Amino acid sequence: MNPLRPAILAAAGSSRIKDVITRVPATSAVVQRFVAGETRAELVPVARALLESGRSVSVDFLGEYTTDRVQASAAVAEYFSLIDDLAEAEQSSAGVLTDIPRVEVSLKLSALGQSLGQDGPAIAAENLHKLCAKAVERHVWVTVDAEDHTTTADTLEAVRNARAEFPWLAVALQTYLRQAEDNARDLAADGTRIRLCKGAYQEPDTVAYQRRAEVDASYLRCLEVLLRNAWYPMIASHDPAMISAALALAAENHRAPGDFEFQMLYGIRDAEQRHLVGEGHSLRVYIPYGTQWYGYLMRRLAERPANLGFFLRALTER
Ligand code: FDA
Repeated sequence: MNPLRPAILAAAGSSRIKDVITRVPATSAVVQRFVAGETRAELVPVARALLESGRSVSVDFLGEYTTDRVQASAAVAEYFSLIDDLAEAEQSSAGVLTDIPRVEVSLKLSALGQSLGQDGPAIAAENLHKLCAKAVERHVWVTVDAEDHTTTADTLEAVRNARAEFPWLAVALQTYLRQAEDNARDLAADGTRIRLCKGAYQEPDTVAYQRRAEVDASYLRCLEVLLRNAWYPMIASHDPAMISAALALAAENHRAPGDFEFQMLYGIRDAEQRHLVGEGHSLRVYIPYGTQWYGYLMRRLAERPANLGFFLRALTER
């Protein structure tokens, strides 16, 4: 793990640092490397190009920890338009039609109102329901992102409830959480579609493994549970060791491409994304867009010293 990760994630919470960083124009190379624009009009051609390259997409309208109901409703309205635009982009792209939707939206319940006090979880659950009802009309999938550990229980409950009506609804699971393997077993037994990732937030030792080797070992244990039992595992990692382990387990469990997929973030390991698609595997790219890119960018910078170097160069190039 990047030794600077805790410091960067802690600094990300400071409003002074946020002021400095958000002075970097959204047009700068560092923001554009990880974020596909600030508007839907900028996002759609990026999504279409990825679909035409044989990849699937999952699009995140950036925003988190919404502080009022109006903002949460605005996020829902944006997602409604996004679902329409993505469905149209898929129809007009030259990709092969399959039962597995090639377009998906990813969302954070905190952007839909989860953190709005006592009523927050109910508001977010209602908004999630509206979005799933819209998505199903357009053959678009939805995955709920995993946020910091204080939201995990509410998020899993919201997804569990919504799945009664929308069984294809997915949730992300973070393997740095000590409870990840238990969650993986429960969710796999329920038939939930699961996105397995290592986790990107700063979490205390009481709830999360701190050492990279422990997080990786947890990832491998969860991979085994999911590839043996889950309906449609989604392996969200850029790590060659996790990808090789997933390929071996998939072969062992007679999973063909279409029974599981790889996922990577927009702007990361593009050549490997193309390579996996060339080998016949399903791969989905998570594409964020919107003006609220600060938190997302800081998590990417914290993951990898090379990303940080790239960012510092962009700052000095202004
Ligand atoms: P990690 O960062 O541990 O890196 C391991 C190895 O991968 C590196 O040593 C290197 O070999 C390779 N690698 C990584 N980045 C590279 C790069 N830029 N270039 C070249 N090689 C690189 N998190 C969360 O908390 N909640 C969520 O909902 C999500 N959702 C999500 C969706 C998708 C599709 C992805 C891919 C990731 C997430 N994440 C997430 C983020 C995730 O938790 C994690 O922080 C990052 O994916 C980084 O972890 P990795 O598994 O990629 O490997």
